[in-house]
Amino acid sequence: MKQILVTGGTGYIGSHTVVELQKKGYDVVIVDDLSNSEKNVLDRIEKISGVKPHFEEFNLVDPLKTNQLFEKYPKIEAIIHFAAFKAVGESVQKPLAYYQNNLVSLINLLNAMKEYKVPHMVFSSSCTVYGQPEKLPVTENAPVQPAESPYGNTKQICEEILRDTAKAYPELNTIALRYFNPVGAHETALIGELPKGVPQNLVPFITQTAIGLRDQLSVFGDDYNTIDGSAVRDYIHVVDLAQAHIIAAERLLDANNEENFEFFNLGTGTGSSVLQVINAFEEANGIPVKYKIVDRREGDVEQIWADTTIANEVLGWKASKGLNEMMSSAWAWEKNIREGDC
Ligand code: WQD
Repeated sequence: MKQILVTGGTGYIGSHTVVELQKKGYDVVIVDDLSNSEKNVLDRIEKISGVKPHFEEFNLVDPLKTNQLFEKYPKIEAIIHFAAFKAVGESVQKPLAYYQNNLVSLINLLNAMKEYKVPHMVFSSSCTVYGQPEKLPVTENAPVQPAESPYGNTKQICEEILRDTAKAYPELNTIALRYFNPVGAHETALIGELPKGVPQNLVPFITQTAIGLRDQLSVFGDDYNTIDGSAVRDYIHVVDLAQAHIIAAERLLDANNEENFEFFNLGTGTGSSVLQVINAFEEANGIPVKYKIVDRREGDVEQIWADTTIANEVLGWKASKGLNEMMSSAWAWEKNIREGDC
């Protein structure tokens, strides 16, 4: 049974990826500092898959603990690296924390990969590397624009670190996955997105408004040059996203990749406006969402959605779940966590 290290594995996308890895028979080791997730996610993963992953609690910014991890688990064959700070707004307030955490943890992992002969890494990147693309849908070859936030910049710099390291060390084998907007939850409603404090992202704010935790949703601007004036994004179901990570990891493990640094867009190829998402939620769940239009949010791009041709044809992956299933699964999860089942 091949062993895979999932950093940030108790987080939103990480936990869904762990479940998909276990479904395919992989033995999973999670390292997480629990700065943005709860330890009881491990029990919920076990409830879904029947297998509790190995778990180590520390921050990968510590090089000693990072190396000790690989001493303890010498069978690790590949890494899926999620662990990073990821709140765009927060990164503007705390840039140094973001640069230190997101860059140093990657560098420590890459050093350990060389030291302990672990060749494969799937890296969690982001469509924020594109900024506001000139042309839509955006392809992987679109120019990387100046980042809109320190968070987005850490993703750009991490990709450059991967590119340069892969060039210097041919034995390393890496793939960066550029996520668009992950939303929704596992069909069991046992795992999902659980932001700490006031949600920054759209869909958790919608579900918390629908369940009465928030008074109303603020829609950040309806004066964009889009179908209804509200900003457009490419929303992708988190399970579709998780499955792409398994495919990418197996591409590396089976050495099916020509280059030792590749990158792919993970989106659906369809753009939806904020107002369309609100409408999709109301239609899918028969629940009204109270909202008001307010000013634009600093740093938001007007519209972005993915060209998924390369991911479909080269990676061999295609998103299958639509907005309706994203919204119904997000709502089922919100109800489940508020009813205390988790
Ligand atoms: C979506 C739309 C907001 C909240 C996120 C992550 C980023 C990256 C891409 C992975 C925007 C609007 C939001 C609200 C609103 N993911 N909105 N009211 O900004 O596209 O970025 O996905 O790397 O890390 O942050 O996502 O959900 O914050 O916003 O009107 O209360 O919803 O203006 O148009 P975003 P988001």
